[in-house]
Amino acid sequence: MTVRIIGTGSCLPAQVVTNDDLAQFVDTSDEWIKSRTGIRERRVAKEETTAGMCIEAAKKAMEEAGVSAEEIDLIIVGTITGDYVTPSTACQIQAGIHAVNATAFDISAACSGFLFALNTAHAFIQTGKYRTALILGAETLSRIVDWKDRSTCVLFGDGAGAAVVRAEETGLIAYDQGSDGARGMCLACPGRENNNILVEGKKELGYVSMDGQEVYKFAVSTVPASIQKVLDEAGCSADDIKYFVLHQANLRILQSVSKRLHVPMERFPVAIDHYANISAGTVPILLDEMNRKGMLERGDKIILSGFGAGLTWGTALLEW
Ligand code: COA
Repeated sequence: MTVRIIGTGSCLPAQVVTNDDLAQFVDTSDEWIKSRTGIRERRVAKEETTAGMCIEAAKKAMEEAGVSAEEIDLIIVGTITGDYVTPSTACQIQAGIHAVNATAFDISAACSGFLFALNTAHAFIQTGKYRTALILGAETLSRIVDWKDRSTCVLFGDGAGAAVVRAEETGLIAYDQGSDGARGMCLACPGRENNNILVEGKKELGYVSMDGQEVYKFAVSTVPASIQKVLDEAGCSADDIKYFVLHQANLRILQSVSKRLHVPMERFPVAIDHYANISAGTVPILLDEMNRKGMLERGDKIILSGFGAGLTWGTALLEW
């Protein structure tokens, strides 16, 4: 018994912000952003919220899966930008879709959030107590980036992606996940600091900070190794995989992984150009885009891989 993805959905903010739009606010250019990252534009939330986008994405995934809200017995959301510290985004979704029989909770694993949600749902379903899960990756990163810092604000976007997974005989074949907390501060965003009666002075909320080159080096070494691990565990070669659906952090990272695995770029779908980096949202949003374009057929083998802050990484090999 394993889990299979039986429906996908996504929801993006309406507002498109191009590189030229950003160049009006910070000292940057379309040329710099495109050549260093592959990003042309991103979506930025104005009225949209993390939970609101999740609910829309979830409804689409459930519709495709033909699953009712009552059948969902687990909701797991990968996010670092929930609308509330509590209730969790997952609990907000539960209320929004009336999934009255579900247990709902969030996972904080940044860009690996969707993969951690998938692997966690798999583990829960393997116990036999759960059968159908709604898993999501969603962010409103525009809330936590410093819009005056050109080295980070150009890289990120907002959006939500969802999938319904169910206990089945085929689906998830192998997975690998891990963390390296010792290197965590190379991509960080502080939470609220002590601001109680004992502390003098009002503290400002901090923003995302990143050592881009450290993160880049981590990604181009860890991701191919993690992919190789799941290929070996599944007894597959890279030639057996139709698509490598990777977290979209930088086009150059995708190109480097493609080179290291000796797999042409045509098998690495790209969304970074139009959505930028949506952390936990990137993998499920890209998967939904591919699914709706008819790129996936029953029996195809694909690899999903997320990596980023924590540091964390998660990779899954699955049969569609
Ligand atoms: N526009 C114009 N210039 C910019 C800029 C921007 N938006 N951001 C930085 N620069 C400048 C820097 O100030 C620096 O100028 P200097 O040489 O005068 O000091 C120069 O460009 C080079 O900066 P650097 O940080 O060395 O660029 P880079 O080639 O490493 O590219 C990243 C930066 C962020 C694109 C790249 O390191 C990267 O993608 N890393 C991985 C990040 C990632 O994946 N994060 C998410 C993980 S989930």
